[in-house]
Amino acid sequence: MTQAAAKIRSDVIVVGAGLIGLATAWELTGRGVSVTVLERAEPGCGATGVAAGMLAPIGELDFGEPELLALNLRSRSLYPEFVASIEAATGADTGYRHTGALHVALDRDEAGELRRVMELQQSHGLDSSWLGPMAARDLEPGLSPSLAGAILVEDDAVVDPRALVEALRIGLGEAGGRIEQAEATALVCDDSGRANGVETTIGRFEAPTVVAAPGAEAGIAEWIPAGVRPPVRPVKGQVVELRGTPEDPACERVLASERVYLAPRPDGRLILGATVEEMGFDGRVTGGGVHELLREAYRLLPDVAEMEFLDAIAGFRPGTPDNMPIIGRTAVDGLILATGHYRNGILLAPATATAVSDLVEGREPEGLAAVSPDRFAKQEAK
Ligand code: GLY
Repeated sequence: MTQAAAKIRSDVIVVGAGLIGLATAWELTGRGVSVTVLERAEPGCGATGVAAGMLAPIGELDFGEPELLALNLRSRSLYPEFVASIEAATGADTGYRHTGALHVALDRDEAGELRRVMELQQSHGLDSSWLGPMAARDLEPGLSPSLAGAILVEDDAVVDPRALVEALRIGLGEAGGRIEQAEATALVCDDSGRANGVETTIGRFEAPTVVAAPGAEAGIAEWIPAGVRPPVRPVKGQVVELRGTPEDPACERVLASERVYLAPRPDGRLILGATVEEMGFDGRVTGGGVHELLREAYRLLPDVAEMEFLDAIAGFRPGTPDNMPIIGRTAVDGLILATGHYRNGILLAPATATAVSDLVEGREPEGLAAVSPDRFAKQEAK
């Protein structure tokens, strides 16, 4: 990272080095586009650094918008190639594992709800199947003996977001992309009102296209002109990290109940996530949050009681009024938004990167109407 910018010019500036920003920079760099990423703190220091990394387009399905389901499934299908390209370029292990996931009902009420979810999934042609308690425990012997049933979603997977960010940081550097530690203070526009750079705390960066990927801070990012600043709010999530051993992992695949999910890491760690709290930017880890996660994890997988407590952290998901991401061009020519991914930022990184790169190159990617930035402007005008 440089200390002072001396009129650095590139084809594209990406503001925000979370997974969305870095994946976009990676995709653009691969297409021969020169990119400068601006990050006020450290790469991955926002929601990415706290995320458990569940890739669960089916298991965590919210049927609100068919277009979001299509985007989630498309992004899931892009993941193997996305991580393979980074791992091949850097030799890093991103923790990507196509393990499938078990979504578990712990009592009869939950079983009824889970069956309903499964039927809905199957009616959309998605791959999920019912397992009785014994079959579920054959797959995951550590599960609670009193579970009422489970659905197995073979295509769900997991990745380590922090490892992925570190690999992208290295890969981008080796591929000629720049990541600069600089806080954006203003969008720079030419006389016609078209974006052509970003003013920062260390000087001005120039580019004919600016991609705003500031995550949960998008709604308070004063460098984005007020008229196109997206209605993003922080939704707090706390997670707990436990240590196990790779030889004797607590579970083989992602486990989820109604109130908690457990994501195993290749080194034996287990990530317990996550609370969902409307607390503004209050980032404190609380006794109540940690208690809830440990209690619910214990109900699902009693062996967690034997694991070493490593850490508890909190972060902010970028929430939007309709829980859908915000991806697309804005009313300011040359300014593209890629934010508001709420609970799906890790999953949606490859599809967002591809869509934004297409927009940068002047193409019109399909399937973005439901996530277009102007949907909120249209609502206001009604
Ligand atoms: N995607 C899981 C979460 O946001 O907690």
